[in-house]
Amino acid sequence: MDKAFSDQLNMSLSDLLAAQTGLHFPAERWRDLARGIAAAAPAFGMPDAESCARWLLSAPLTRHQIEVLANHLTVGETYFFREKMSFEALEQHILPQLIRMRASERRLRIWSAGCCTGEEPYSVAMLLDRLIPDQQDWNITLLATDLNPAFLRKAAAGIYGEWSFRDMPDHLRQRYFKQRKDGRFEILPLIRKRVVFACLNLAEDSYPSLLTNTTAMDVILCRNVLMYFSPAWVEKIAQNFHRSLIDGGWLIVSPAETSNSLFPQFKATAFPGAVFYRKTQAAEPPADVTGFSVSPLAAVDPLDLLTPRPATLRMPEAVMPVPTQSVAAGPVASLESVSGHPANQDERAAFSRAAHACANQGKLAEAIGWCEKAIAVDKLDPATHYLLAAILQEQGENDRAAQALRRALYLDPDFVLAHFALGNLRLSQGQPREARRHFDTAQALLQTHSQDEILPESEGLTAGRLGEIIASVRRNLPHATAASG
Ligand SMILES: C[S@@+](CC[C@H](N)C(=O)[O-])C[C@H]1O[C@@H](n2cnc3c(N)ncnc32)[C@H](O)[C@@H]1O
Repeated sequence: MDKAFSDQLNMSLSDLLAAQTGLHFPAERWRDLARGIAAAAPAFGMPDAESCARWLLSAPLTRHQIEVLANHLTVGETYFFREKMSFEALEQHILPQLIRMRASERRLRIWSAGCCTGEEPYSVAMLLDRLIPDQQDWNITLLATDLNPAFLRKAAAGIYGEWSFRDMPDHLRQRYFKQRKDGRFEILPLIRKRVVFACLNLAEDSYPSLLTNTTAMDVILCRNVLMYFSPAWVEKIAQNFHRSLIDGGWLIVSPAETSNSLFPQFKATAFPGAVFYRKTQAAEPPADVTGFSVSPLAAVDPLDLLTPRPATLRMPEAVMPVPTQSVAAGPVASLESVSGHPANQDERAAFSRAAHACANQGKLAEAIGWCEKAIAVDKLDPATHYLLAAILQEQGENDRAAQALRRALYLDPDFVLAHFALGNLRLSQGQPREARRHFDTAQALLQTHSQDEILPESEGLTAGRLGEIIASVRRNLPHATAASG
């Protein structure tokens, strides 16, 4: 069954996988590659590994193919509090310092990239539970992403066997888990609800992005993941992580992945048994309204079906930014057209760039202010309402976000990304019927675009890719089958 492929076939397959998934299969891992393809063949209805390999090579990989391959080509090996010393450094140095710094703002954003079956982000959630007793008064985002939807489903369920606890003190298991009749352990809802799981391919999807909630992070854990990638990919991913972090934010890799050369834009800082990488202010150019680097909409692959946004914890009313007289306040029908003037459009574009730049740094209230300024000079630009929606959603203001998206769609009913975003938002609000309606419309609109056409406002997302993403989201919906009619 796992007969070796020819060198030529191995080489073509490794090139394809490297390009689309970042997975790195040098010659010494070709046997693993053949074994993985043989294991995946039945899922594709292929009679054997070789015909499966040739079929995969016949066209660019689809999202579905990537998901199936990810299942068979990556190792889901993880456990709670893996690499203890790293967690000690987090608990004793990194998190207390961040908590002190944010005492007034009460906002913290952590991303576990390559979270596998969830043990890593849940370990962080348990640390935070102990370090921040008044979490209900904080706005804490704990985002956990992986390439593999099967791992994410398991993570979202939060049920674990004995082996996941191999390095976790018993008292923590007793405190945060409930034993089930089948002998396994279920994480308490208190911790489970604090983690938001989403599918994100570190090689293909773009980040930072407001839509995937990957901007302005304080800490990114990406441990035992980069080892799957070639050095060139590691550098690229590290560069993106650098942009996803705020100034002073931390990148945490596993001790086996520390490197003097691969993370040159970070300052390496040694803790007992761990080296973490810090984004220092000097390395980052100052905020510049013309220099934003992030699409609010690219990289849309939210498997928000697993755990809905907004991320986890609510800000108390007292620290919520005071809603201003925003565009959302007035009826759409009364909007008066001022958008035709080029000067207005330039001004609007500059305000929108400022909004992006602030959002990238986690200054969401300021970003919203810039959006409102942009809307004040040009009320009829759907893209600005769409941007406002993305920022509001990041802030957890889903109702206002939905309102802004409806405005964008009123102004441009064919705005495919706004339909998609509203579908995701409805999903996160527990309204799957509404969500499907928007996904249906988005899919119908996509038919009017060619597969490789870049969608407006997407900064690089093609119609074909969005179609795959929507199909993937629908596949994972509880009752989504055949709903698209
Ligand atoms: C060994 S696990 C690491 C889990 C956890 N971070 C830890 O240290 O215990 C590696 C994870 O990386 C994920 N992964 C591999 N390639 C990826 C990619 N291109 N994008 C996102 N995740 C990826 C795999 O699906 C797998 O869940």
